[in-house]
Order: sequence, then C-alpha cells, then structure tokens
Amino acid sequence: MRQTAKTAFRLPIIGTSLRRAADRVPPRGQRTWIQIPAGPSKGVWIKVEPTGLPVPVTSLDAFLAEANIERVGLIKMDIIRMHPVNEVLYHLGIQISRTQGIIRPPSDFMVTHERNPANLKNNSRGFHVFEELLYDVGVHPESYIDHECTFAAQHIGALNPQSILDSGSYHLFLLGLLAHFEVTTVDVRSRRPISSKESVITCDAKKLPLQDESFDVVLSLSTLEHVGLGRYGDEFDPDGDQKALREMVRVLRRDGVLIFSTTITRAQPSIGFNAHRIYSHAMLRELCEGLACVEERCYSVASQSWCSLEQVTTKPESWDIYCGCWKKS
Ligand SMILES: C[S@@+](CC[C@H](N)C(=O)[O-])C[C@H]1O[C@@H](n2cnc3c(N)ncnc32)[C@H](O)[C@@H]1O
Repeated sequence: MRQTAKTAFRLPIIGTSLRRAADRVPPRGQRTWIQIPAGPSKGVWIKVEPTGLPVPVTSLDAFLAEANIERVGLIKMDIIRMHPVNEVLYHLGIQISRTQGIIRPPSDFMVTHERNPANLKNNSRGFHVFEELLYDVGVHPESYIDHECTFAAQHIGALNPQSILDSGSYHLFLLGLLAHFEVTTVDVRSRRPISSKESVITCDAKKLPLQDESFDVVLSLSTLEHVGLGRYGDEFDPDGDQKALREMVRVLRRDGVLIFSTTITRAQPSIGFNAHRIYSHAMLRELCEGLACVEERCYSVASQSWCSLEQVTTKPESWDIYCGCWKKS
C-alpha cells in the first residue's frame, strides 16, 4: 500500500459501498490520506501519527480541524453509494485508500490476550515476541471470487483440456491451475510468468496475437466488464468487451469451451465508468450468440450464495456475478 503521507488518518467503513467508492478514487497528489479499514466500525475516528492513538471525533468540522486538512477545492465527479461524510471528504480533495481493518476485539478476547505475552515470553523458545494484534475469529471469510473460481475449476477439471488460454483472470486462481495445466495468459498489464508452465502474453484482449482455433478452453474471470474502459491502462473502446469476447471465441477450437464470469443485474444495465460495465442477462446472451450454453450460474453478492436468475439484484448500479460456460460448435 502507498504510504506517502507523514500523517495517517483513518475512517471507518460506513456501509460496504464505501469500500467500492474508495477503490475508484484516483490519486490526486494531495498530502493527506484517509485510510479505510476493511472491517466495520462505528463513528468517525482518526489516528494521528506519531502518537498512533485513535482520536474519536464527533463531527466533520472537528475532524478537519483536528487533522489540519487543507481545502483544495471541489472536483467534479459522479459519486454513487458513498457515505455522506466520505463524500464530503472526497470533495475536499482528500485521497482515500484502503488499509487493514481497525482491530477492536471483544473485551473477553482481550482479557485472555493481554495475559498471554507474559506467558509467551516465559516460553519463547528463542523467538523474539512483539505486539502485533490481529483478531480473525469466526466464520472463515469468503467472497464471490471463491465461487467464480469454483465454477471455472469444476468445468476445467471435467474437461481435462490440453491447452488453456486465460484472459485477465485472477492471478491466484492461475497458480492453482498451473499445478495441473500449461496455461497461456493474456493481460494488458505485464507480469512475469509465475511458473514455467505459464506463457505470458502482454497485449490487449481485443487483439490476440494467437492463431484461430488454437485452445481447448478459454477462461476469463472478472475481466470482460473492464475491457475498453481504461481502468487498467488499456485503450478506450466502448465496444471493447464485444471485441474481446469475439477474440476469445476466434481462438477457441471447435468443441472448445469458453468459461467466463462477469457482472449481472436485473436493473437497467449500466457502466460505472471507469470501474466496470454491469450487464443484463440479455446482453450476456447476445455476447455469446453462436455458442451453445453448457451452464450458467448467478451468485448473489448480498446473500453470499448462488442464486437463480430471478434473484439477481434489481438495485440500480449494483451487481451480482454471472458465471457462464459456453461451447463452440
Ligand atoms: C478484475 S481484474 C482480474 C483479476 C486480476 N488479474 C488478479 O490477478 O487478481 C481484470 C484483469 O483484466 C485485465 N484487463 C483489463 N482490460 C484488459 C484488456 N483490454 N486487455 C487485457 N487485459 C485486460 C486487467 O489488467 C486485470 O488484470
């Protein structure tokens, strides 16, 4: 994480939307950073270095005064789903970035925890013991990404393909895939191959330097919705997603399978520029025209479970996940 400021401030997440809003705040070269913790917490508080102590503040004015934040003028941006406090801060030109969660374990946990350093030092076995409090109890965290990857893994496992092209998918998923298969990966952002079984091609997914009908499987997780919007430094192209999908189909062998995931909504399809497009099911079907559907699944981000098409979100500008497996005949 970038830590350029001498003074660090922290704000709690107020609603999950803020986390996403924070993601798309562009760097603006200001000297103040607001750090947003990953976990929920109540009230506005700041942590001012070098004391490192959290200072609760009850109003924005107090916060700004205490933090000595300069007003840098308004900037025009369509901010959706951002908490009012953070929206005001954003309009004041304060950069927002995500950071580790504020750790506030329950008091019963703390009682035991505070006794333990002494016990640990008595039996340190040569380890130097220092304070680094984390609280990660409860249900193991999961996200929609786990489910997209599971969808892909199940289909790839059943197919046992000889050749796989991956366009933009999750790096960590590829690490697992590479344990079993050779994979050619395409991404507009360059990277080093993470194993000898990975062939990296740095290029735009709209123009693949690859032969027609050369892969058994083409995989693309959470990428299509970004192509052409410039978020990752690719060329701006309103039809980038359609072009990229056509390319994936072009390089797929006959009887080969395209596995992809993207956003889906039952509200009006939209583009949260430059983050992503949010598709209707009809649009996704149109993108896959000419292919035969093997399986489609939807995942509800709100209920954190697979859902039917009829249960996909109707909330404007919001999205769930679509996973599709399509065969080229
Ligand atoms: C949401 S990310 C997928 C996850 C990410 N690769 C990871 O390792 O976690 C979308 C990926 O698509 C890539 N991408 C976006 N537009 C692209 C384009 N036009 N051509 C090729 N890759 C593109 C991005 O660089 C990014 O890596």
